[in-house]
Amino acid sequence: MTSKDFGSPFIGEKVILRPVEKSDLKDIMKYWNTYETRQYLGHPIPHSSTQEEEWIQSLYRDANRRSSFTFAIVEKEKNEFLGSVSLMNIDWINRTCVFGIAIHNPANHNKGYGSDATKCILKFGFLILNLNRIELEVFEFNKRAVHVYEKLGFKHIGRRRKARFHEGKYYDIILMDILFDEYLELYK
Ligand SMILES: CC(C)(COP(=O)(O)OP(=O)(O)OC[C@H]1O[C@@H](n2cnc3c(N)ncnc32)[C@H](O)[C@@H]1OP(=O)(O)O)[C@@H](O)C(=O)NCCC(=O)NCCS
Repeated sequence: MTSKDFGSPFIGEKVILRPVEKSDLKDIMKYWNTYETRQYLGHPIPHSSTQEEEWIQSLYRDANRRSSFTFAIVEKEKNEFLGSVSLMNIDWINRTCVFGIAIHNPANHNKGYGSDATKCILKFGFLILNLNRIELEVFEFNKRAVHVYEKLGFKHIGRRRKARFHEGKYYDIILMDILFDEYLELYK
């Protein structure tokens, strides 16, 4: 199997992945602090534009160190900034890393962008970076994300019980991963 058979990992059916630019800051600040999106992420507390500027800077440092790669997800036809997708904490000995994604504007959820961007970054991780395992964490109340990850081939590998406090209740954090061999079997 050659990379020609798989095509560019940066061009999906609906989205393209490209580096996050400083000029994306204004688009990031449009919807990034939307609670409907942020409730599913590390923490739901709004970020200032200064914090986001620092985040963009940190992406360049991490990419240069090859410890994490984050890409802007851009709508293919309209060239609209949709969000970002990452492979983080890359461990080059064990060839494993952590996946993360966010489509910022809730109006852009359920349009296939997240699935498409995830497929792209799996291709990047497995066929370009030569990783062997990509893992993720997702809150059990994030039913849409769990569905997308199951659909794309991630397997459930465990739970951190009652590890996430959300709107007055504790929820499990679900752990999932996908291995290189499983990826090849599904996407060859
Ligand atoms: C999670 C996320 C990346 C998914 O991307 P998306 O573009 O919205 O999702 P898609 O349109 O590609 O796919 C949605 C799928 O979930 C299904 N779905 C939607 N709501 C659902 C629900 N409540 N329960 C189960 N499945 C659901 C849709 O029917 C669709 O299924 P299909 O592909 O089999 O038809 C995106 O919604 C997002 O960024 N959410 C906010 C931040 C977040 O949750 N990040 C991930 C943290 S782990």
